[in-house]
Amino acid sequence: MSEKLLVRKIKDGTVIDHIPAGNALNVLKVLGITGKEGFRISIVMNTDSVKLGKKDIIKIEGREVNMDEVNIIALIAPTATINIIREYKVAKKEKVKVPEHIEGIIRCANPNCITNLEKDLKTRFKVVSRKPLILKCLYCDRYTTLEDLYRQFIRRELVK
Ligand code: CTP
Ligand code: ZN
Repeated sequence: MSEKLLVRKIKDGTVIDHIPAGNALNVLKVLGITGKEGFRISIVMNTDSVKLGKKDIIKIEGREVNMDEVNIIALIAPTATINIIREYKVAKKEKVKVPEHIEGIIRCANPNCITNLEKDLKTRFKVVSRKPLILKCLYCDRYTTLEDLYRQFIRRELVK
């Protein structure tokens, strides 16, 4: 079934398309969107995709994602396409790209890392592997993995 039959087009906002199947809720978590903000959000999970077999799609009406957020989405959904919609048209389309370095937003998995002890210190990671995702902390050299990130999102301690 075509996704178009499931969710209608939006007037203004963001469509995050080609999310690896089953990851839409994790993408919303990293964007800090809980549903309480009042934006109309449509989530389609495990729908058919020519490119991916199965995929998820998120449509957020009235909110455009920014570049920092796009970088974080890339960690969870490296295949995602971000479409910024204005007046029903795709005003901008961008494939996400996993950055080489990440600053802030995510926490180091090492509880004794200085970034976890000094709350004002911004975390800094080098992306040492994309698949599977492995980040190396530039302060303590410990590795942080995708599983560590999911644990952070579940505990809602992501934003730093
Ligand atoms: N979309 C939407 N509302 C709009 C315009 C587009 O919800 N007013 C959605 C479409 O349903 C699609 C995504 O935004 O999921 C991208 O739209 P478009 O570029 O028109 O579709 P495709 O060409 O299929 O995209 P791609 O090439 O990235 O697969
Ligand atoms: Zn560290």
